Parts: sequence; C-alpha cells; structure tokens
Amino acid sequence: MKPSKHLITAALPYANGPVHIGHLAGAYLPADIYVRFLRLKGEHVKFICGSDEHGVPITLRARKEHTTPQAIVDKYHSVIKKSFEDFGISFDIYHRTSDAVHHETAQDFFKTLYAKNVFIEEVSEQYFDEATGMFLADRYITGTCPNCSNTNAYGDQCEKCGKSLSPRDLINPHSQLSGQPPVLRQTKHWYLPLDTMQASWLQAWIEGKRDIWKSNVYGQCKSWIDQGLQPRAVTRDLDWGVKVPLPNSEGKVLYVWFDAPIGYISATKALTDDWKQYWQDSSARLVHFIGKDNIVFHCIVFPAMLKAHGSYILPEQVPANEFLNLEGEKISTSRNWAVWLHEYLQDFENKQDELRYTLCATLPENKDNDFTWKDFQARVNNELVAIFGNFVNRTMVLIDKYYEGKVPPAGNLNQTDNFLTAQIFETIGKIDKCISNYKFKDALFEYMQLARAGNKYLADNEPWKTFATNPDRTATVLNASLQVVNYLAQLANVFMPFTAVKLLKMLDVPQSDFKTMLAGISISEGHQLQKPSLLFQKIENEQIAMQVQKLQQSKTEVLVQAASEKAVIAYEEFEKLDLRIATILAAEKVAKTDKLLKITLKVGNEERTVVSGIAHCFNPENIIGQSVMLLANLAPRKIKGIESKGMILMADDGSGGLAFMQPSKDVASGNSIK
Ligand code: 2FM
Ligand code: ZN
Repeated sequence: MKPSKHLITAALPYANGPVHIGHLAGAYLPADIYVRFLRLKGEHVKFICGSDEHGVPITLRARKEHTTPQAIVDKYHSVIKKSFEDFGISFDIYHRTSDAVHHETAQDFFKTLYAKNVFIEEVSEQYFDEATGMFLADRYITGTCPNCSNTNAYGDQCEKCGKSLSPRDLINPHSQLSGQPPVLRQTKHWYLPLDTMQASWLQAWIEGKRDIWKSNVYGQCKSWIDQGLQPRAVTRDLDWGVKVPLPNSEGKVLYVWFDAPIGYISATKALTDDWKQYWQDSSARLVHFIGKDNIVFHCIVFPAMLKAHGSYILPEQVPANEFLNLEGEKISTSRNWAVWLHEYLQDFENKQDELRYTLCATLPENKDNDFTWKDFQARVNNELVAIFGNFVNRTMVLIDKYYEGKVPPAGNLNQTDNFLTAQIFETIGKIDKCISNYKFKDALFEYMQLARAGNKYLADNEPWKTFATNPDRTATVLNASLQVVNYLAQLANVFMPFTAVKLLKMLDVPQSDFKTMLAGISISEGHQLQKPSLLFQKIENEQIAMQVQKLQQSKTEVLVQAASEKAVIAYEEFEKLDLRIATILAAEKVAKTDKLLKITLKVGNEERTVVSGIAHCFNPENIIGQSVMLLANLAPRKIKGIESKGMILMADDGSGGLAFMQPSKDVASGNSIK
C-alpha cells in the first residue's frame, strides 16, 4: 500500500553550541536529500526538526558562563537555525523544546502513560548537595576514578580512561556546585519498564527489523536486547526542563531523553492542524535520521514510549549514520576540533553546495569516514569544476557563441546520441533506487556519472570542430548535451539546491517534478538561454593551507585555555593554605637571572627568604617596606641554590605587569588572611 504521508525527522540538536560538519553528515544532509527527493516525487511529506533545549550540559554551560539556561538556548537556537537555513536544509519547521506547545505535549504524554499505569514508581538514594539544597545530576559530581585514579572523573564517566561510572563509584566525591562532599538522600522517580516491554513485544518488533534496518542500526539494537533491557528513569531532580505534571513533584523534571523525541510530535503540532495524520494514521510512515549515538533512544526507548501511549505509529526506518572524523581525528567540540558551519561560510562565501557535495560523497553511511581539506579541494576542483561545471559551461558557451543562446535543432540522432539519452533515464532510475534505500553516496555518484557521460560525449563528438564542416552535427550534439544539462539542473535540487537555482535560471526553465521528468522533458528548439556564468570555482592551495592552519591553531588555543581553567576545590582544600601579611625588609637581584629577586621578609617575629620572579617589574630598592600577601606554608624549594620558603602572591595587571596585593589599611605583618 502506498503511504499516505511521510513524517521525516532529523535529531534535535542540543542548543548549547553551534553545529559543525559532523552534524550535517550525520543526520541533516541525508535527511534533506531524502525529503527533497520525496517532494520531487510529489509525496506528502513533513520534515521536522528543532532545538533540544533541556538537559544537564545546558545548565552546566550556563553556570560556567554566569548566565541562565534560557539565555544559552536562546542564543544557540538562533545560531543553529540560521546555519541550517544557510545550508539549504529544508525543514518544514525548526521548532524548540522550550516552547509552551512542547511542554504541554510532553506533559500530556507523561500523564497518559501515568494514567495507564505504565511507569514503575521507585524511591532510591541519590547524591544531594546540602550547601545548595539540590540533588546532583551525574555530571555535577566529580571525584577520583576507581579505575585510573584520575581525580577529576565525572559521575557518569571518567574522561581520562573512558570508563562508564555511576556517581557512587567515585572515590571522594565532590559537588561541582559547592565543592562539598555530597550526601545520599532519598528521592522518588518514575521508570519505563523496558524489561517487561522487551518480553511482551519489543524484542519481537526489533527482531522483525533485521532485514529492514541498516546492519549498523540493527546490530546495535540486537546487542542491547541480548544484554537484557532494564527499567529506565524518565524523570530527574533538576530545575531546568519540563516539569513533572504530578502533585508533590516540585524540583522534578522529565528526563531530557524522554521529552526530546516528543519534540518531534510537538513540532508537527506547531506546524499543522493535520498533525495526527502524520503520527496517528497507520498508513503514514515515520523515519528518524540520526547519528549512531542516538540509536538506542530512537530504536528502543521512543518506540517503547509510543507503543505504551497507544495512539501512535512506530518508526519504519532509522537510517543512522556512523561518525564523520576530521583530518583523521574524532570531531570534538570541547577541543574545538571541528569545522563550524557558520565559520565555513565566512571563509567560503556562497559555497554551500561545495560542502554539501563533498559531505554527501563522504557520508559515513556504513562506517566512520574522514573529512579532509585536501579531499574537499580535490572534489571541488576535479569533480565539480572539471567535470560538472566544465560540461555545463562548454555546452552553454558554445550555444551562446554559435546560436546567440538559442537552442539549436535536434536534427537526426545517431546511436551515440540515443545512447546518451538512454543514460539519462537509467540514471534517474538508479538515483531513485539508491535514495529509496538510503544510499545517498551512491545516488550522488550516479548523478555525477551522468555529468561524466555528458562531458565525454562532448569530448568525443567535438562540436566545435564540426561547426565549419558539418553544422547539423554540431547542432545535434549541442542540443543533446543541453538536454542532459537540463536533467542535471532538475535533479540538482536534491543534492545541490543552490546550484539548481542558478542553473535553472541560466536555462530559463522551471523546476519539473519527478513524474514529468520520467515522462521526458526537453528544452525546445529556439528557446532562448540566459548568458552562461561559471557554477564553481577552483579552490586554491592557499585556502586549504589556511583551513588546516586554523584547525591546528584552535587546538593550541584550547590547550592554553584548559590550563587556565581550574577545577572547583572543596573548602577543606582552601583551608590548607596559610596566607599571611608580610613586609619586605630587603631585596636583591639573583645573579645571572633576569626575573628573580631574593627577598627577605618579616612575618611576625620571623624573618625568612623567598625567591620571587618579579625582577622584570620592580627595582629591588623601590620595594623595601612594601606589604605583601604571602603563601607561607608552601613546601620550601631551592631556586638557583637559594632556599625559598613561601611565595609572594601577585596580581596580573592584564598587560604583562604585576601588582602587589596589600591590605586596605595598616595590618601587622604575620597576621593571617582568610
Ligand atoms: O544527541 C543529541 O544531539 C540529542 N539532542 C538528540 C535528540 S534527538 C531527539 F530525540 F530529539
Ligand atoms: Zn578513569
């Protein structure tokens, strides 16, 4: 039975940072190609996305930047939305989960499941920060990793050795909010009983997808099933998110992975009054485009939620991609190892299709793949410029030159001409098959093969040579080439929408739909073409070198920044410092050094020597009598043969200089600072 409606979703990106090429290649570009193709075929399709605006990382980011979670998501929602628009990702709606429609939809969904007694209600002990009066999300707790002794492991994972942890595994746990050790306190949560669902239907449903889903997707799901699913908490103690819609549940919100996929439903609701026809009609189909890290939520948890609700269809396909690496390394937001979409467009203005093309040609469909700037350059120069652009340009320029831009007559076609025309229809068939099977890389390859065939046809038939001796032949060859150019223009909408617009304008023809294309379209004799202009330009070596350098540089900047970002410490750690007021009694330069001064200090009744790296900022004779702040219990160290006992603390003046820290009124030397 032909599906009545197609609801196509692309993973809702977290609104806590901009989007990069990995996002585009993981989900948004293949989804966009798929949707564009469905639209070309005249199908009823809605393409849904939006910002995922809840979750702990957003609250952490807000805290770090001394702002509110709402301010963070407002900022990045706009940045992300704009990047998608700039790259022609043709969502029918780009919604957001902080919207009231979403909160209401997610709460209603929860209430339905609650009323149907789907959830298990359970009280458990979780870490609580008494200083802030808050339960701590796993990411808010740090401590020592039991596996590798890293003292900065998080409550969900140690980023040094990669081990998955739960907060109670941490040795010496501390709250990231107050620095205090947390205490265990009882709290109630609601769980989705995935274990019983596995037994009653979920396992059979997933196993039924063995020959339908991509093997990477099915394999991951099967492995979850084989390990046995466990009940999953769908609520959290947090003050940012969709509030749990039950009495006496202040301070509790829906878990972000419970509310986010419901975001697909609320976005459809916000888009159209017809939303139920896409979600609740058994003849509609639901397809989720995601990256591989989202598989469990889209193939197991969300279907479990939908089925438990009872009114919804389940996903037919979840064509998840693997990861795209960058220059041989994993893309990393925190290490700034990424090509950000908004930055790409600053450096390569109006070159959206060049990136779309390269990413589509390297999509990580079945295994992780690598984006390199060299490959980007090669694809643009050797494929888009040398093949596609060259074929289109030669055809258009020759028609302009010989016939003042008027399409010449087709005349009598020979076997080669008919062969070229046949290739057009073969290509359309192959593209249709590839895209319908989510093989976008192959589809693009077939598309380029048609441009290759056109290019070869021109080269073999040399219409510029026959013009003097056999003008009818020139007319036939250029007419046939132009028909291929037209098909390339019509199909470009799917892969390279910006090129499609330019090319259709140059040809001065409208966009055709798929059915019309299959029935056969041709640009008639005498049709006036616009003046040709180049579709693509070569990417120069310098442009590529600059991008590679930019990547390396950002890596260094992140290292410097990380070194200056210090971990939160507990009050007990601070208490260990013995800080005192001291007075400088004498100072002299340390021989053969530029920066060191040997300083004699009076600390109460005691005199002691400290070696200090301040000689580049102060003359020794000018600082006698100066009050200073001393870290008195720093372990003694020998510096240039002099025993230094303590450290004088200085303020950085922000321009390479130093300033003493001194009390605002007279304070006797030796007095403590607390
Ligand atoms: O991994 C992510 O970026 C998630 N924000 C994806 C959510 S997809 C859906 F469930 F909304
Ligand atoms: Zn570890």
